[in-house]
Amino acid sequence: MCGIVGYIGTQAATEILLSGLEKLEYRGYDSAGIATVTEGEIHCVRAKGKLYNLREKLEREVNPANIGIGHTRWATHGKPEEYNAHPHMDTAMRVAVVQNGIIENYRDLREELKARGHKFRSDTDTEVIPHLIAEFLSHSATPGFTHSSTLFLEAVREAVNKLEGAFAIAVLSADYPDELIVARQQAPLTIGFGQGEFFCASDTPALVPHTRAVLTLENGELARLTPLGVEVYNFAGERLKKSPRTLNWNPVQVEKQGFKHFMLKEIYEQPGVVRACLEAYLHPDWHPDKDTSPINLAIPASLYDDLEHVQILACGTSWHAALVGKYLLEQLAGIPTMVQYASEFRYAPTPLTVNTLTIGVTQSGETADTLAALAMEKKRREGKPSQFQVRLLGISNRPESSLGHLVPQIIETHAGMEIGVAATKTFVSQLMAFYCLALDLAYRRQTISATRLEEILVGLRQLPAQIELILESQERYIEQLTHDFAETKDFIFLGRGINFPIALEGALKLKEISYIHAEGYPAGEMKHGPIALLDAKVPVVAIAMPGNVYEKVLSNAQEAKARDSRLIGVTPMNDPEAAETFDDLLPVPAVEELLSPILTVIPLQLLAYHIAARRGLDVDQPRNLAKSVTVE
Ligand code: F6R
Repeated sequence: MCGIVGYIGTQAATEILLSGLEKLEYRGYDSAGIATVTEGEIHCVRAKGKLYNLREKLEREVNPANIGIGHTRWATHGKPEEYNAHPHMDTAMRVAVVQNGIIENYRDLREELKARGHKFRSDTDTEVIPHLIAEFLSHSATPGFTHSSTLFLEAVREAVNKLEGAFAIAVLSADYPDELIVARQQAPLTIGFGQGEFFCASDTPALVPHTRAVLTLENGELARLTPLGVEVYNFAGERLKKSPRTLNWNPVQVEKQGFKHFMLKEIYEQPGVVRACLEAYLHPDWHPDKDTSPINLAIPASLYDDLEHVQILACGTSWHAALVGKYLLEQLAGIPTMVQYASEFRYAPTPLTVNTLTIGVTQSGETADTLAALAMEKKRREGKPSQFQVRLLGISNRPESSLGHLVPQIIETHAGMEIGVAATKTFVSQLMAFYCLALDLAYRRQTISATRLEEILVGLRQLPAQIELILESQERYIEQLTHDFAETKDFIFLGRGINFPIALEGALKLKEISYIHAEGYPAGEMKHGPIALLDAKVPVVAIAMPGNVYEKVLSNAQEAKARDSRLIGVTPMNDPEAAETFDDLLPVPAVEELLSPILTVIPLQLLAYHIAARRGLDVDQPRNLAKSVTVE
């Protein structure tokens, strides 16, 4: 949802800004731009389309400026045209601003500013910000602006106090060429500390090539970056004492390391991610005779006590993980669990239930709908009797994100940085978090026997090697198979029980990166309507793993075959019945149904990846999508 970067120091800013934007391009890629200050003037270069268009323009010039801001855009207000690309400037072109977020009151502000003679050049909400700042700078002779060294900061502070909405901004002024001002309100912004140089960015991948000492601004904070250091203030103007923390990302994580796309690299990282989760969540020397849970999630008892309901709020792929979570929490721990789209829950919340744990699942920790739904849930339970008190838990790959500020407790998913816009390894890591949460609750509520618990733990520990086996044995075959789908326009994915969400996920992966229409259905629902879509041109992918619904899925698949659909089965390895039923097999190790989602999703990710790659599409940055959806 737009990426912003900023630099102030001794090096030439342009290349640092461009390479920072490259690391943030997953946040938006409709247009891009940078502004620097050279010889008392703002120099602004913008280009429509992907970042290489901007790079091409900038390669034609030499720019020694050592201060600058940059932006990569995911359009909200105004088409993705050059005149709407950031940075935006005031009428006299003395102030430049990049913004991530949405200014909700921009129409009123724009009218007021126009009435005072400000000239606007774009259709964006952002453009009011440089005009407002310029307006406050022009008033700077008024009482209250006593310290000339903070005039620019004061003007930005006055301006942000006028803005309504969610935003992160970075601001330059031609008249204050040694200052970069940044501010945050409900959109992420992190400052990086180098040696005599400072950086800012919407996300840490843009910072790790330069520094690991970072400071994430909180909502309602702004900072003044100069070559001498960083000062942090709140929106009331009070100076705050803050120290940087050390990031544990390493720069190699944000490189492709020989893979053609980040998505493929991230698919291959999944065995390691599952191992990292097992290491983090399972007590290594647990034994059934021990009087403690085998799971180590460090969740305080107050979240679990007298628990009667769980409700899970999420969007997209995280919502699919939540559906698997529901299955596990209900079947293992016996807790009635509701899963809601955060964007729906916000405007039609379910009636309040007592003793309820509310879980927000978001890999980025920045999804606006999920954050707003959680905030709403917190608010509507305030002041209610104790059984209605809010209990919030987050599941996220980014504990330092906005989610981390909203909920008291997070299960960190240990997936490492995910750059590909389509979620793969973060999904698998969310599933791991749910397995562990459900087992922990099952143990504490005594809804599981020691033998069954041990059986599942043994199964979980085998998953990394089993994913490796799928990757080794399947990738080539799947790549070959995709030749046959060069002209395919529709796909159907079927699954039942715990694998129904995996059918949804398989369909979502395919549509978002290959632009092929794909639907996921519970296999038993086919006959109630979707079967009308089937013919020889519509392949059907069915997930059929041994267990409760195995035979049922095979017969649902037969119904599709009888309508001439090509049948592709995600099935147990060496299964003669499956070999007879399906035209093509994507076999996975024959684990029990309960554990199978972690394996069955892998061939579906590879299928989506290879179909999109074969079509020559931009797998890592599919059209119209962004990695962190920080707007409603
Ligand atoms: C799909 C995908 C999106 C996200 C959704 C929620 O591959 O990436 O559907 O899952 O935007 O994102 P998070 O998990 O960051 O809240």
